[in-house]
Amino acid sequence: MISVKNLNKIYPDNFYALSNISLDIKQGEVFALLGPNGAGKTTLISSVCGLTKQTSGEIKVSNFDTIKDYKKTRSLIGLVPQEFPLENYESVLNTVNFSRGLFGKKPDENHVKKVLQSLKLWDKKDSPIITLSGGMKRRVLIAKALSHNPKILFLDEPTSGVDIQLRKEMWEMILNLKRSGVTVILTTHYIKEAETIADRIGILNKGELILVENKENLINKFGEKTIIIEFGKKIYKIPKQIRAFDSFITDDNLCLVIKKLKNQKDVNITNIMKVISELEIPIIDIKTEESSLEDIFLDIIN
Ligand SMILES: Nc1ncnc2c1ncn2[C@@H]1O[C@H](COP(=O)(O)OP(=O)(O)OP(=O)(O)O)[C@@H](O)[C@H]1O
Ligand SMILES: [Mg+2]
Repeated sequence: MISVKNLNKIYPDNFYALSNISLDIKQGEVFALLGPNGAGKTTLISSVCGLTKQTSGEIKVSNFDTIKDYKKTRSLIGLVPQEFPLENYESVLNTVNFSRGLFGKKPDENHVKKVLQSLKLWDKKDSPIITLSGGMKRRVLIAKALSHNPKILFLDEPTSGVDIQLRKEMWEMILNLKRSGVTVILTTHYIKEAETIADRIGILNKGELILVENKENLINKFGEKTIIIEFGKKIYKIPKQIRAFDSFITDDNLCLVIKKLKNQKDVNITNIMKVISELEIPIIDIKTEESSLEDIFLDIIN
C-alpha cells in the first residue's frame, strides 16, 4: 500500500531529518512508528502525505507517486496531525463536512454522522471548536481525517492528552478500521499503545529507521523472560534439562529461577513444567516476568 525507497530529507547545514529510509507497508496492517523526540516520525509522515517534499528518494501510495500523482495519493490518505490546526469558531459538524469537501467528495450526511457518533462527538456537532476540551479537539481531528473515507490513516500521536477511557476506545476504533481494510500508521510515545494494537513496529532514531519487526518477533527476539517456581519443599539440584538456560536455586532452596536472555531461544513452559513435575516436589506458585516493549525500546535506542 505504501512503498518508501531510499528516502532522504535534508535540511540546511546538511542535517538529515530522514536518512535513507526504505519501508513497505501492506494493506490492512497497523504499523506503529516509535522513536524519541526529533527522530523524524512527523517528517516521515508528512513526506508520505505530500506535505513535505523529500530531498531524494521515492514514495508510492497504492502505486502512485506522491509527487507526480499528488492529488491521487492525497485522496487515499487521512491524516490526524500532531498539532491542532482547527478553526476555533466553526462548529464541529461544519469542520468535518468542510474537510470532506476539500477532497472533492460530495456531502454524505450519513457517513459524517456515523464518524461523529463513533467518536462520541455527535452531541457536540453544533458546538464551536473553541468550547471543546483538548481530548475532544483531538477527536475532531480524527473525524476530519475520516471524513473522506480514506484507505490509509496516519495518526501522529493520536492519544497524547487523551484520557484512559477514550484511549481504549480509540484503540478499538483503530482495530475496527483495520478490520474494514484501512491501513493505519501511527506514531506514539505511549509504548503500551504500540504493544496493544500494532502488527509491526518500526523504530526511528536520529532520522534512521533502525529496526522494523513484527511485534511478536520483536518481543521474542529482544525480550527477556524470567520464570520463578516456588516449591513447598527444599530443592537442591537443577534438573539437567533446564541447565541450558540461565537458571539457579535461591539461597533458601525454595525457588528455582529460570531466565531466557536476549537473543536466546524462548523457554518452553510446557516442557519445563513436565521436567519439574517429575521431581515430585509440591509446587506452591509459578511467576513469570517478561520484558515489556518499553524495556526493549529503551534498550534498542540507547
Ligand atoms: N522545517 C525544518 N527545518 C529544519 N529542521 C527541521 C524542520 N522540521 C523539522 N526539523 C527537524 O527534523 C527533525 C525531525 O523532526 P520531527 O518533527 O520529524 O520529529 P518527531 O520524531 O516527529 O519528534 P516528536 O516526537 O517530538 O514529535 C528534528 O530535529 C527537527 O528539529
Ligand atoms: Mg512528531
